[in-house]
Amino acid sequence: MSLIMEVNFDKSILTQPTRNIHEIEIPREGNSKKLQFYECKAAPNVPCYKIVYTSDGISFGETVMSQLVSDYQLKLDKDFKNFTSVKEMEAWMFSHQNETMFGLAFIPNSILDTVDTLSYTLYYNRSREELHFPLLSLQNIIDNNIIYLRMKELNRTQDLMDSRYSVQVDYKSFPQPLTTKDGQTLVFKISGPTFFSISAMFILIVSLNNLVVEKEFRLRFSMIMMGMKESAYFLSWLITFLVISLVFALVNVLGGMIFQMSIFLNANFVVLFLLFFSFSFSLICLSFFLSTFIKESRNALILGFTVLAISFILNLTVSNGGIVYLLYSDKISPFFYIIFSFYPPFNFAKVFIDIASKTLPEYDSALRRFVSGPGYSFTDFFVGKNSYDYVPASWIGVGLLFLDGLFFLILYWYCDNVISDGNGIRKSPIFFLYPSYWGIQCFRSKEHKAPSDDNITFSKFETDDVKVEFKRARDWSQPAIVRIISLRKTFSGFFSRIAHKILPQKYADKFSEKKALKELNLVVRDNECVSLLGHNGAGKSTTMNILTGLFEQSHGEAYVSDLDVKTSISAVRKQLGICPQHDILWDDLTAEEHLELFGDLKGIPRKECKEQVKSLLDSVELSKVGHHLTKTYSGGMKRRLSICIACIGNPKLILLDEPTTGLDPYSRKKAWNLIHNMKKGRAMILTTHAMDEADYLSDRIAIMANGELKCIGTSLSIKSQYGSGYNLMVVANSGHEDSILTLIQHKVKDLKVVSENAGNFIFNIPKHQVSELSDLISEMEKQSSRIDGIIKDWGISQTTLEEVYLKVTQKSEFSFSKNKT
Ligand SMILES: Nc1ncnc2c1ncn2[C@@H]1O[C@H](COP(=O)(O)OP(=O)(O)OP(=O)(O)O)[C@@H](O)[C@H]1O
Ligand SMILES: [Mg+2]
Repeated sequence: MSLIMEVNFDKSILTQPTRNIHEIEIPREGNSKKLQFYECKAAPNVPCYKIVYTSDGISFGETVMSQLVSDYQLKLDKDFKNFTSVKEMEAWMFSHQNETMFGLAFIPNSILDTVDTLSYTLYYNRSREELHFPLLSLQNIIDNNIIYLRMKELNRTQDLMDSRYSVQVDYKSFPQPLTTKDGQTLVFKISGPTFFSISAMFILIVSLNNLVVEKEFRLRFSMIMMGMKESAYFLSWLITFLVISLVFALVNVLGGMIFQMSIFLNANFVVLFLLFFSFSFSLICLSFFLSTFIKESRNALILGFTVLAISFILNLTVSNGGIVYLLYSDKISPFFYIIFSFYPPFNFAKVFIDIASKTLPEYDSALRRFVSGPGYSFTDFFVGKNSYDYVPASWIGVGLLFLDGLFFLILYWYCDNVISDGNGIRKSPIFFLYPSYWGIQCFRSKEHKAPSDDNITFSKFETDDVKVEFKRARDWSQPAIVRIISLRKTFSGFFSRIAHKILPQKYADKFSEKKALKELNLVVRDNECVSLLGHNGAGKSTTMNILTGLFEQSHGEAYVSDLDVKTSISAVRKQLGICPQHDILWDDLTAEEHLELFGDLKGIPRKECKEQVKSLLDSVELSKVGHHLTKTYSGGMKRRLSICIACIGNPKLILLDEPTTGLDPYSRKKAWNLIHNMKKGRAMILTTHAMDEADYLSDRIAIMANGELKCIGTSLSIKSQYGSGYNLMVVANSGHEDSILTLIQHKVKDLKVVSENAGNFIFNIPKHQVSELSDLISEMEKQSSRIDGIIKDWGISQTTLEEVYLKVTQKSEFSFSKNKT
């Protein structure tokens, strides 16, 4: 007689539930009872139970177990252990690993069962394969007992086939703690994308900070001013960051392998590398784009960490395994998927989860343990994820990361040109439509038209020299290296710009504006050095900054070698050498490296460059420390290096903004010599507050006040024009002070006593009385040569430049305050 029994394995052992059908012999009375139960083997000194069991209150289960115990003469607490519930039994098995061979638990029936089912679970030790076959024998014994006892119960009167009884068997491995790999699986699945994308975010912060620091300290602009192409600057950083990305990708993948992470061990190396590299590439491009909005490195860090924090939150929600795939399903609008495609961590998370789902150990609920994934091959990269048809293949995710990068680079290119940040001329929002941007030169009229308000401004000038300069600036027949025509510069804030666009003039004017340059006309010729003098805020640096393209003029024109700085700034910069008012140096480069860098930017051959570096450093006494980092330099040494930088590469125009500020007298003399020697064959504009410097170095001196040119000419001419004549110094022999006053006042009528101190007199002889000087001088000589003469010593000097300066600027200050009131 045979009985068909259904044995249910756990439904999730495979995707389809499996049913095994066993044919079992019904035992006959007394048959196989004397068989030996399995020999108990455990570790030495560890108790070994043949079987642990619980009937969990099921009386028939208790009967079956009693039959087993009596058949095989099993002894309680020696051969077997009894528990009151499954929970209690599993807890014991968990805490007593390898102390039993089998476990048996009878499970209460489901109340929905229509037949009287006896369910039991057999527990086995998955690490002891030699016991797997005996497990089936044990099942056979138990099943035989069940059938025997049921038949006994039915008194063999009814065919079991027609009865309402059935038996259900489950298998379970002994409970055990999660292994490190299982824990890894959970960690990777839940937070892997977040963890790895957050670590990559630091690349974004570092690159953003680097870009903004160079902008903040005008290092970028300094190189651009010295002739470096924007594209070269951009490429140099891009290549640097790409190398960092390469290293980052390699360290990530190799690190994962070294630390035995399944995802890195079971996936294709090239795919992993591509994923990490493309991700860091997209983040770097994002940092380029973000850098266009920030001026200060402090803000760059704030922005970088804000992006990191937002990414962290978004990653935890969106980039989480299930949600990433959900976004692709047709239940969710494609809008979200498209939007998130522009968010690199999302694309990264998608591919990461693709790889993780094939490489990480999966929990097999049939086996009740984690089994290693099938692995992620290079072909899987091009195939969609099998279980979700709507999820695109991984290569699309990586492709999107590269596309994101390109998209951010295009935005960077646009914003960098349109947003000036005070670091260069801002271009029109449609700059890319102009052929000149792409280097295509269209036909342009050579005729230079004078600004329309020329007549008004001309009549406004008070002095002839300024009027002459006005005309000279417009005389294109006279060659000039620098030609500045009616230059104006107004610094207006954001609100002021808006106000001028939307409000009537009289209201808009209420929003503060700073007129740094009001009407400047200036010409500098070849072999000429013009000094710009003026009070703080007179507009000297602004003039220079417009010539270098740092600021864009609000009105008027500026030309260098007949090239308009507004439209041909790149060509202009090739001819410039600049020493800015504030040193722009890299702390971690030496003086020699600085000069070689700028020499290279100017395109001078290496050999010649080395010679120039040596002679320039010699000329300012820096050759001994030329190989030291500039962060170790004093302020004066940095200044001298800045002067050398301006002079390297034979520029056509050298702009020196207060070059000798902070230099000791010896270094200053050296710097003067260098500047003096450099004058030959080029034009130079120098700003200074030291009158002796202007006197010594310049061919012409221009004094500015409140953004306007107040006087211009050679040192002699402005002294004679604006000076107050001559100063006569007389030292009287004691007791003859009054006689001296009488004598001199007799000779020169309009004489002024400037100072009188213990017999030392300073008189001012006005210009119209200069004719009287010869008479006076011969009288002085006579008096001083006589032993009993009234004069001990005397001297005469022309008005100093300082006096002229004070006179001119005081006058303009007066008119300025008068205008204001
Ligand atoms: N970026 C700017 N934004 C707003 N105002 C500015 C800016 N740069 C300069 N100014 C203003 O323009 C005016 C002229 O400044 P500039 O630097 O040209 O003076 P300067 O003659 O070089 O003075 P100093 O001798 O102190 O160097 C000043 O009032 C200054 O405040
Ligand atoms: Mg200045």
